[in-house]
Amino acid sequence: MGADDAMVHEPLTPQSLGLLADRIHREWTSRRRIFDLPTSRFFDVSAGPDLTAEFLGREIATPLGPAAGPHTQLAQNLVLGWLGGGRLFELKTVQVLDELDIPRPCIDVAGVGYNIEWSQELQIPRSLEEYVKGRFLIELLTAWGELDPFLGDPGAHVFDLSVGYDLAGIASPGVAAFIDSIADASTVIDRLRPELLGGPFAHLADIELDPCIADTVTLSTFHGCPPDEIEKITKHLMTRHGLDVIVKLNPTLLGFGQVRALLDALGYGDLRIRPEDFAADLRFERGLELIGGLSEFATEAGRRFGIKLTNTLVVENDRGVLPSDTMYLSGEPLHVLAMTLLDQLHISAPGMLRVGGHDGPVQVSWSAGIDKENLADAVGLGIVPATVCSDLLRPGGYGRLAPMLTTLGRTIDESGGSSLREFVDFRSAEAFNDGARDSLAVYTAQLHDPVTGARYRADATTGPLREVDHDLEMWGCVACNLCVTVCPNDAVMKLPSPESLGHRWEYVVLSELCNDCGNCNTFCPERGDPARIKPRLFTSPHRFEADTGQAFLIGMADGVPSITARTGWESETATLAETLGGPDGLPIATERPEAVIDEARRHARRAD
Ligand SMILES: Cc1cc2nc3c(=O)[nH]c(=O)nc-3n(C[C@H](O)[C@H](O)[C@H](O)COP(=O)(O)O)c2cc1C
Repeated sequence: MGADDAMVHEPLTPQSLGLLADRIHREWTSRRRIFDLPTSRFFDVSAGPDLTAEFLGREIATPLGPAAGPHTQLAQNLVLGWLGGGRLFELKTVQVLDELDIPRPCIDVAGVGYNIEWSQELQIPRSLEEYVKGRFLIELLTAWGELDPFLGDPGAHVFDLSVGYDLAGIASPGVAAFIDSIADASTVIDRLRPELLGGPFAHLADIELDPCIADTVTLSTFHGCPPDEIEKITKHLMTRHGLDVIVKLNPTLLGFGQVRALLDALGYGDLRIRPEDFAADLRFERGLELIGGLSEFATEAGRRFGIKLTNTLVVENDRGVLPSDTMYLSGEPLHVLAMTLLDQLHISAPGMLRVGGHDGPVQVSWSAGIDKENLADAVGLGIVPATVCSDLLRPGGYGRLAPMLTTLGRTIDESGGSSLREFVDFRSAEAFNDGARDSLAVYTAQLHDPVTGARYRADATTGPLREVDHDLEMWGCVACNLCVTVCPNDAVMKLPSPESLGHRWEYVVLSELCNDCGNCNTFCPERGDPARIKPRLFTSPHRFEADTGQAFLIGMADGVPSITARTGWESETATLAETLGGPDGLPIATERPEAVIDEARRHARRAD
C-alpha cells in the first residue's frame, strides 16, 4: 500500500499531541474551556463522598467512565471523559481488521440507541498512539496546576483495553504487538515528547509517565466471536500477555424467548429480533460453565477475572435510518435485559459474582443504559465500573458525566454514608431488612414493574426531537449548540460570529475528526446535516484533496488564517477568514502544510 493510500483510507485523522496540547492552552486562556467542555461540567473528585472503587485490583477514583465506542477512540475524547469525572475507560475495541468500511450514518440515538459501528476506525499503530496521547494529556493536565480549582485531586484512573473478535486475530502479529506495546509504551512516549517542545507545555515535556498504559483487557465477544473460542482467548490474554481479563457478554445469553418476552412487556413489540442471531451466540448454561472455569483458571494463573454486562443487542433494522439490515440496540431497554441476565447468572451461580452485597470472586462490570437516574442504583449493587455510551451521545455529551457523579454523591450523602463502599453495604442491608434476597433482586424487580420501571418502557423513550422549520445554512442557525455537545470527537466547534454576519455564534467542522457518524444531524433542530453544511475545515492537504464537496484547507499561524477553498466555494473565504481570525477565533495553530505532509509520511511509513 502506498503512503498516501494508507493515509486516505482511514475516516479519521487524529490531531498530533503537540497540536492538541496547544489547543488546550489556547482554549483555556481564551474561553476557560477544554475541547469545548466548560468548567461547570468538570468533576471535582475530591469534593463529595469517597467514590473510590476497585477494578481488577486497581484503584479508580470514581466507578464511572465511557464504554468502548466513539468516546474512547481519539485522544481528546479520553481527556473529555476524564474532565467529566470518568476514571475507567474501556478503550475502543482493537481488532486485526483495521481498514473497515463502515456505512454512514452509523449512530441513531434519537430514542433508545442504535448503531452499526464495529471496532476501531484507525490502523492499529494509530489506535496505540491515540491511547498513549490520551494518557499523556491527562498527565499533563494533572501536573499543570491550572485545573486544580476545578478538579481537586483527580485520583486514579485506568485505561482498559478492548480486543476482539477471534483467537487468530488477537494472536496475529499486529494485535499482539499492540497489546505488548500498550503494556510498555516507552518507545511511543519517547517519540511523542518532542512534540511538546516549543509549545505551552514545553516545561512538562519531560514529565514522568508510567509506560504501562494498560494491562487489563475487556474481551468483546461480539461481531461473530466464536463462542467456543472465548475460553481460549481469555486464557491466551492471561498467559501470553499477562493481562487481567473481563469477558463482555451479550444479551443473547438470555435466549430468544426471554428477550422477546421482556421487549414485549416493555412495549418494544415492533422491535424485531431473529432466532438465528441467538443460535450463533454463547448459551446460558455454557456461559455459566465458562465463568466458573475461567475464574478458577485466573486464580491458578495469578490473574484476575470478571464479566461485563453487556454489549448491544443485535436486532433487525426496519427504521430506515442506518444503512444496514442489522443494527445494535443500546440504552434503556438494554438496561433491563442486562439486569435480568445478571440476576439470573447470580441465581444460577450463587456466591460467584461480586454483586448485591456478595463478595464473590468474579467482578461485574457494566455497560447497559447507564444514565444520571440509575447510576447510583447500578453501582449500589457493587457493580464496578458502570460505563456509558448511549447517554453520552445525547445533548450535553461528555457534560452529562459530572451530573451523574454529583447525583451519585448526593444519593450516598442521603443514605448517611461517606463512601461508595458504605453505600453498597447500605443498599444490601436495606434489601435484607425488607426481607428481599438481596439488593440485586430488589432492583431487578423494580425494573420489571410497569410503574417503577416506567422510564425504560417504549412510550417513555421515543418522544419527538425538537424541530425548527428552517433549512440549515452555512452561516447562522438557531445556535442551540447541540452539534457541539453530541459529537463524541469534538469535531464541531462554536466560534463568535463576526460583526458582518450579525449572528451570535458560527459553527465549523474540523473535518479530519468527523467520521460522519450522523449524530449531529439527528439532533440538529434545523433541516440539514451540520457535518456537511457548516464550513468543513481541513488542515491536511491529503485529506482535502481526497474529499469531495464543500471544504476549506486552512492554515492558522498567530491567529491569522490562510484559506484555500474548494472550487465553487471561494465566495465564502472572506467570511470564514473573519470567523476564524476573530478575537476568540479558532484556537488551533495548525501545523504548516509541510509539517502536516511530514506527519502523514511518518504515519504511513509505520503503517507499511
Ligand atoms: C456507536 C457505538 C459504538 C460501539 N462500539 C463498541 C466497540 O467498539 N466495542 C465494544 O465492545 N462495544 C461497543 N459498543 C457497545 C458499548 O460499549 C456498550 O456496551 C453498549 O452501547 C451498551 O451501553 P449503553 O447502553 O450505555 O450504550 C458501541 C456502542 C455504540 C452505541
